Amino acid sequence: MANATGNEMLDDALRRLSDARDETELQNWHRDVLGRKGSVSEASRSLGKLAPEDRRQLGQQLNALKGQLESAFQARQAEVQTDLLEARLMIESIDVTLPGLRPTVGSLHPISAMMREASDIFAHLGFQTIEGPEVELATYSFDMLNIPKDHPARDVWDTIFIQTDTQEITLRPHTSPMQIRTMLQQEPPVRVVVPGRTYRYEAQDATHEWHFHQIEGLAVDTNITMADLRGTLAEFARQMFGSERKVRFRCDYFPFVEPGVDMSIDCPFCNSRGCRICKGSGWIEILGAGMVHPNVLSNVGYDPEVYSGWAFGMGIERLVMLKFNVQDMRDFYRNDLRFLAQFDRARL
Ligand code: DAH
Repeated sequence: MANATGNEMLDDALRRLSDARDETELQNWHRDVLGRKGSVSEASRSLGKLAPEDRRQLGQQLNALKGQLESAFQARQAEVQTDLLEARLMIESIDVTLPGLRPTVGSLHPISAMMREASDIFAHLGFQTIEGPEVELATYSFDMLNIPKDHPARDVWDTIFIQTDTQEITLRPHTSPMQIRTMLQQEPPVRVVVPGRTYRYEAQDATHEWHFHQIEGLAVDTNITMADLRGTLAEFARQMFGSERKVRFRCDYFPFVEPGVDMSIDCPFCNSRGCRICKGSGWIEILGAGMVHPNVLSNVGYDPEVYSGWAFGMGIERLVMLKFNVQDMRDFYRNDLRFLAQFDRARL
């Protein structure tokens, strides 16, 4: 084997080695060049045919060549591994500057949030929050609230009745029956608010639902007056709708209070100038209230000569609608997340 042939073989093998791009190609190369049947071994075998002095010289050259190729192989192998690793890192790399994906987190329904906010305000004014059954005895929904059977006022509450043989049972049309349950259970002083679901048999439209929510309030003690009612509810209105709110009381009729009133706030949308929302009047009615009727106190065994009290009830949907200018009450129950998500970050 002449030097020229040896160099050619080296160049050719190195060129092919630099073309090897992965482990398989590298191993193929190694087999073809340095393997038992590879070109180098083949050349070694042909040495036998040479004259002894040539054989020694060429043998040495071939050994040197073998060493060169072996270290070239190792270098290339390391290179290929680095290249592959780099390519992989490139593909798998993460751009930490990209904005992250926000996990979807649930939040309170605006009605639940409002019940909590209203209860919170009253908690700071000394009222305990309690809840009661939605399926309620007609006695508590009506009779003991001074609305006897066949009293025309029953028609005001379009009630869903559940027929039973023994007792008339309602889906409560208001939270007021909890006044009775509370007073039957405890002696005065009473200071409670009752948020909860209520039901009425009526057609649905933008301002009516067959089920909705109310919060009831009741305070009974010695020397409780209408001034306490006014002070407490005015404070509530200011905390809920802004410290500059004015409140207005007018006479109204509810069988379980005497006198009965309704309370309005000055319209926060037009500052009482008159707009579509307050129907030009400058005032928006938000609740019914009054001094607990002596008959109701007697019904639960409280002496009306000793104790007096006041009560109120207001619609939760209406509060949210006013606070966030929601036009259609039915939106609360369509379960459209685009609507509900608007309240996620709003502090109700
Ligand atoms: N229960 C009444 C209703 O659903 C609201 C109400 C009015 C509650 C006067 C009261 C009250 O406690 O004193 O329309």
